[in-house]
Amino acid sequence: MRSLLAAFLTLLLQAQDAFLVKPYLQLGDAPHAAPRERLDLLWHAEDHEATWVVEVRLQKAWVPQGAPAFLRLDAPPLPPHRIYRATLRNLPPGLRVPYRVVRNGAVVFEAEAQPRKAGAHRMVVFGDAADGSVGQAAIAKAVLDAHPDAVFIAGDLVYGRGRAAEYRDHFFPIYNSEAVPLMRTTPFLGVPGNHDVPFAKFPDAAAYFAYWSQPLNGPALKTGEPDAAPVLAGLHDAMVAASGPAFPRMASFSFDYGLVHWTVLDSNAYVDWEHPVMKAWLEADLRAAQRAPWRIVALHHPLFQSSRAHFDDQWMRPISPLLEKYRVDLVLAGHVHNYQRTAPLRFKPTQAGPRGKPVAGEFTVDEAFDGKQVTRAKGPIHIVSGAGGAELYDPWQTDAKASWQPSTRTFISDKHSFTVLEVEAKRLRLRQLDVDGRELDAITLTK
Ligand SMILES: [Fe+2]
Repeated sequence: MRSLLAAFLTLLLQAQDAFLVKPYLQLGDAPHAAPRERLDLLWHAEDHEATWVVEVRLQKAWVPQGAPAFLRLDAPPLPPHRIYRATLRNLPPGLRVPYRVVRNGAVVFEAEAQPRKAGAHRMVVFGDAADGSVGQAAIAKAVLDAHPDAVFIAGDLVYGRGRAAEYRDHFFPIYNSEAVPLMRTTPFLGVPGNHDVPFAKFPDAAAYFAYWSQPLNGPALKTGEPDAAPVLAGLHDAMVAASGPAFPRMASFSFDYGLVHWTVLDSNAYVDWEHPVMKAWLEADLRAAQRAPWRIVALHHPLFQSSRAHFDDQWMRPISPLLEKYRVDLVLAGHVHNYQRTAPLRFKPTQAGPRGKPVAGEFTVDEAFDGKQVTRAKGPIHIVSGAGGAELYDPWQTDAKASWQPSTRTFISDKHSFTVLEVEAKRLRLRQLDVDGRELDAITLTK
């Protein structure tokens, strides 16, 4: 009995020592669904030699995966550490699969992974997330209880400056804890917001590029090009090195999940989506997705929104005609810390103003759509789901309809909330839930 207890304690100690950040799941560079799915598994460990093996349980046998590789991040204030990555392969689409991590011959971690589903699924979306607040933790718990197949964060992943030290302090411990074991079971996707890009003064800023693993099929930007996240030579070198091929390319990308094609855009102020290379990529991506039952564009800065806060940041409006032409169903954004939903709308820019002003133009609003009786939308619906943790903006506007823009149909800023998308081939249901799982808003779209 005593020796059993000693063995258990040894295992526990080994497990505790093994990780700085416990294993978490990412889609990896796998934009398209496949008959056998894959997922990337990442974890952070001390900068010491160790033998790591990842195994997946397939047909009652533990199958070793390819050897994990690592990149080293040496950017203060955290001590240098290793970001390990292994790819879980041959996963049956949709079926949860046990996996385990072995270090120096001892099993130090075990969980179940949810591979991408081929058809109907449930995706959770929220933005403006990890600020270390009570609201962030409450949303994380509520998201776990909503049982998503995957989670998408619509930017401002980590406050205040997207730094590695901030991920360590209040991102991973909230979304990947023993109590809220989300990221170890459920792939998280995301887009960088204005808080996630390189900041002067902080060598560990823009940790997004080093810590996330998402498709590398966005515009083929190179460091220093005008639409790439700007870095300072000498200051951000360690972060760029730890990012491998992800910097700066992983800022925009696209992927398929189930019946949805997602186009994910870096909407930060340094990107001009009117530049020919950027616009051509966006158009080609949407054109290639015309056979997908549903199309979603996700980005941080909303095209259309009613909050007084960040009202002038509606600079992404010029892409609206392309989204309409290629029949995008939903545009999901964050940045503004509340929940907003527009009517389906079409927009013709009449004046491409400078950054810092909403782009002027003509609106055609689908007044008939109500998401209940009338469920076929004429134009994309724009959602702001930025109430994912950070302090809410303009709560007074919740009940002040006169302060809303004419296309806004719902505005909720007195509660933290998140979006649940229940997707089927001909029907997409969008529900906005609060931290207690109560429904604040719901619409149905049909084809
Ligand atoms: Fe933001």
